[in-house]
Amino acid sequence: MSHINTAATAAPLSSPLPDSRMLIDRFGRRINYVRLAVTDRCNLRCAYCMPEKGMRFLPNDQLLSFSEMERLMGILASLGVDKVRITGGEPFVRPGIMDFLRRLRQMEGIRQISITTNGVLTGQYLAELKDLGIAGINLSLDSLERERFLRITRRDAFDEVMACFHRALDDEIPLKINMVLMGDLNSADIIPMARLSKAYPVEVRFIEEMPFNGTDQGKSRLNWDYRRIIRTLEEAFPGMQPREDAPTSTSQNFTIPGHRGTVGVIAGFSRTFCGTCNRIRITSRGTLKTCLYGKGELDVKALLRSRADDSAIENAFRLQVRRRFKDGWEAEQDARDGTGVSESMSVIGG
Ligand code: 5AD
Ligand code: SF4
Repeated sequence: MSHINTAATAAPLSSPLPDSRMLIDRFGRRINYVRLAVTDRCNLRCAYCMPEKGMRFLPNDQLLSFSEMERLMGILASLGVDKVRITGGEPFVRPGIMDFLRRLRQMEGIRQISITTNGVLTGQYLAELKDLGIAGINLSLDSLERERFLRITRRDAFDEVMACFHRALDDEIPLKINMVLMGDLNSADIIPMARLSKAYPVEVRFIEEMPFNGTDQGKSRLNWDYRRIIRTLEEAFPGMQPREDAPTSTSQNFTIPGHRGTVGVIAGFSRTFCGTCNRIRITSRGTLKTCLYGKGELDVKALLRSRADDSAIENAFRLQVRRRFKDGWEAEQDARDGTGVSESMSVIGG
């Protein structure tokens, strides 16, 4: 498969495009990273993401089709987006996802594709993902105890997810573990989860719980914020040291003497990283979000389905990115709609 752009994964992510083409916001932040939610459906019901019952998923025609996504990604790549993360919902519940990934991989300008998955169905695709030159997988795993896993995800899929974890390691696919801290429901998992980085070359990341669970039960303050998580790790692992991360990284990472991997925190609730944010999101309902905390600011799906040509769509993106919020606090303020019901992360795409 010589036409596949295999040099891509290791290449530095600096765009050769002139500034006049790129998506740059009014604070000078350059957008080269898009998170694309390919479905809102999921085979788990994680408590921090969805209500247990009564999730109403979008009808198929309200999702972007893969050909619409392809066109959109072509436009974004021409504007300097070179990095894509596929999210959901759960990407692998959408039929046709592997074909789409293959086409995306061959797209000019797209240098790095990674996937966030819950690992339930993913194992069977890993070999092919590896062949495709996928840059890495982020596996959502909130507990290493079967019972707790079940309580959080409300589905009995622990074995499948652990099998995916081991298989990804065997296949040497770069692997990150995302654990959302759900207060005392899984705080006992912090240390065992961090120990995974001793035995295996994985990046374990602890994520502050964010107010996107599709219900009106948002939290106004966090029991476990990133400082408390770091303190807990420092006490358990003396010698833990901050690692130098890319300026655009949303995680703050640490090395631990004798560990093959690393541990880190993502202060998604405290929003410590907005100043260098280089990403935009396409939600599963086909809207553009220039901030996780914002409301869908541009109906990309309607544009794609209108007679708008590529340059009209480019201009709409440029305008929206230009107007981008300063940070997640400003975006959240703007997005308050009075109902108090949060959008589910399965729509937004994390
Ligand atoms: N708070 C924090 N992280 C969340 N995720 C999903 N919902 C939330 C939330 N409310 C994480 C998942 C997954 C990624 C897509 O987002 O763990 O790793
Ligand atoms: Fe599914 Fe991910 Fe939401 Fe869990 S967090 S219900 S795995 S989309």
